Amino acid sequence: MSTQRTVLLVGGSGRTGGRVMQQLLDRGIGVRAIVRSRARLPPGAADRPGLTVVEASLLSLTDEELQRHLRGCQAVISCLGHVLSFAGVFGAPRDLVTRATTRLCRAIEALQPPAPVWLILMGSVSVNRPGGLDARRGALERALLWLLRGVLPPARDNQRAADFLLQRIGPGHAFVQWVVVRPDSLLEGEVSAYTLHEGLVNSLSAPGSTSMANVAHLMCELATSPEAWAAWKGKLPVVVNAPAKTA
Ligand SMILES: NC(=O)c1ccc[n+]([C@@H]2O[C@H](COP(=O)([O-])OP(=O)(O)OC[C@H]3O[C@@H](n4cnc5c(N)ncnc54)[C@H](OP(=O)(O)O)[C@@H]3O)[C@@H](O)[C@H]2O)c1
Repeated sequence: MSTQRTVLLVGGSGRTGGRVMQQLLDRGIGVRAIVRSRARLPPGAADRPGLTVVEASLLSLTDEELQRHLRGCQAVISCLGHVLSFAGVFGAPRDLVTRATTRLCRAIEALQPPAPVWLILMGSVSVNRPGGLDARRGALERALLWLLRGVLPPARDNQRAADFLLQRIGPGHAFVQWVVVRPDSLLEGEVSAYTLHEGLVNSLSAPGSTSMANVAHLMCELATSPEAWAAWKGKLPVVVNAPAKTA
């Protein structure tokens, strides 16, 4: 894939987003990263060729500023997540991911790019895929999720962001195409074998695991490979680590 490809990355100072940044740069892809603090970039990343850093609070950017940062980007990757502290989980903005996703899509629409921009959103296995396309969750799990979404703003936020893409952007938008990546419990570790699934493979009570490096690898594949994009656009792939091979 051409080295002239540029990806706009939001959440690049986070655990998964930092890995996305490093892996995109390793592939020779240009990265434009909007981060609240340059100091929280992954070690050594700030001076890497191919990286442009915009130090700003994403939701505080004006529409015009957001459009300027998006101009010339063929893909957008969002690894935004609520900071795991009381203020991060329960404080404003409770709709961080939904609002960021909506604003990014509206800014892309305003730019009317010649080819659809590929938007890749990090969700989680708590996000439902509508239309009965996921394996049906048990009654207990559905009750737990209902409670979680009621009590925990981040769980509700991730579902609403996915619903926005499913319902408001849909499959045939002229300017935005999207994939919502759904990892299971996040783990440290290097890139390893992983599998992709159209629907859920584990339950919340017996979760699987997904290395953040593998989530990053999948997001980079989606952002750079037309074949991967054709296979998964408009879908919500579940990504889990492949079981370790026994001798
Ligand atoms: N934990 C799990 O097991 C798990 C499993 C599956 C999916 N997920 C989902 O995966 C996503 C990413 O997870 P992660 O652990 O990689 O994230 P993380 O390390 O917590 O990083 C979150 C990112 O979002 C940014 N951010 C937070 N609040 C912001 C705000 N108000 N304005 C702008 N940027 C803001 C952070 O920026 P700063 O560096 O400036 O704070 C950081 O770059 C989340 O949506 C999470 O729900 C988590």
